[in-house]
Amino acid sequence: MAAWRRPMAERYPELIEALAPIELASLPTPVERMAALGAELTHGGLYVKRDDLSSAVYGGNKVRKLEFLLGEARRQGARTLVTMGGIGSNHLLATALHGRSLGMRTVGVVFPQPLTAEVRRNLDADRAAGVELVHCPHKYLLPAFVSWTLGRLAASERRRPLLIPGGGSSPLGSLGFAAAAFELAAQVRDGALPEPAEIFVPYGTGGTSVGLAVGLALCGLRSRVVAVRVIDRILANRPRMALLARGVARLLGQHGIALPTAPRLEIQPAYFGAGYGHPTPAGRGAQARFLRTEGLALEPTYTAKAAAAFTDRARKTRRPLLFWHTYNSAEMPLEATP
Ligand SMILES: Cc1ncc(COP(=O)(O)O)c(C=O)c1O
Repeated sequence: MAAWRRPMAERYPELIEALAPIELASLPTPVERMAALGAELTHGGLYVKRDDLSSAVYGGNKVRKLEFLLGEARRQGARTLVTMGGIGSNHLLATALHGRSLGMRTVGVVFPQPLTAEVRRNLDADRAAGVELVHCPHKYLLPAFVSWTLGRLAASERRRPLLIPGGGSSPLGSLGFAAAAFELAAQVRDGALPEPAEIFVPYGTGGTSVGLAVGLALCGLRSRVVAVRVIDRILANRPRMALLARGVARLLGQHGIALPTAPRLEIQPAYFGAGYGHPTPAGRGAQARFLRTEGLALEPTYTAKAAAAFTDRARKTRRPLLFWHTYNSAEMPLEATP
């Protein structure tokens, strides 16, 4: 299998050799200046990182984490992946599609969420990709349903399935976004954008924001990550974020890598609305504005809420801001599994 040749590998070849990630994404993703949005908001320094284009199979933010997570699955010889999320989980679909490309099947333990158009599309795509869905009546019951599923698979399969946490946000998965910071640093060096003062991402399970902030600290960019919370506070909060950041630092420490500075990361809770997956008026407004000005398609659960925070911030500062587009824009595969 081909070597992993991302910019982070040049800096930490031993780490990469030990973890053996797999190149699944089409990287680097482009950075673009949002001139039309900027004109509306009278801000000349608005940029977007087009992770929506990160893969023709299934893009968005998940594929970066899966490069490390499926690398682990391959090292362990796993044939089955078990993961979890809302019934419309982008992470579950991304895991299934990229896992399938490596000959692995996916079992998803899922809880209910509002049935938006995007959720229905993902459910159809899960079915077409051959995902086995285990329905759990409430998100707080997930741990019990996941243990039961693992027990059932252990009894029926010869090889141990690999458990991938919700959103792929283990310390290992988060390294995919630490690597993304190195990619961004190269783009700043090449003049694609100035060093952003702030980078806006949705905050769900945290691997995206935490990994990015850790990576920025490692590669010397001073940008602050603004993590726009889109799930309940009981699941996404400062102690949990700190726990994940410590986990990533510990994993790096096991490979002799120390963080030179603390990750610059803040949680923005004001755009959450009525609940996970519930569209908000501010989010709907930002979604329509991004589409009209830049032709960028967002969805209501994650990216629209981050975009609402981003546009409000753009009205208050003249410093360069980066919106990290985390939602897949590749065509959904709806054909049945061969
Ligand atoms: C489109 C999209 N953006 C952002 C996120 C949040 O990323 P994280 O879970 O790493 O915080 C998710 C997570 O599922 C997602 O699907």
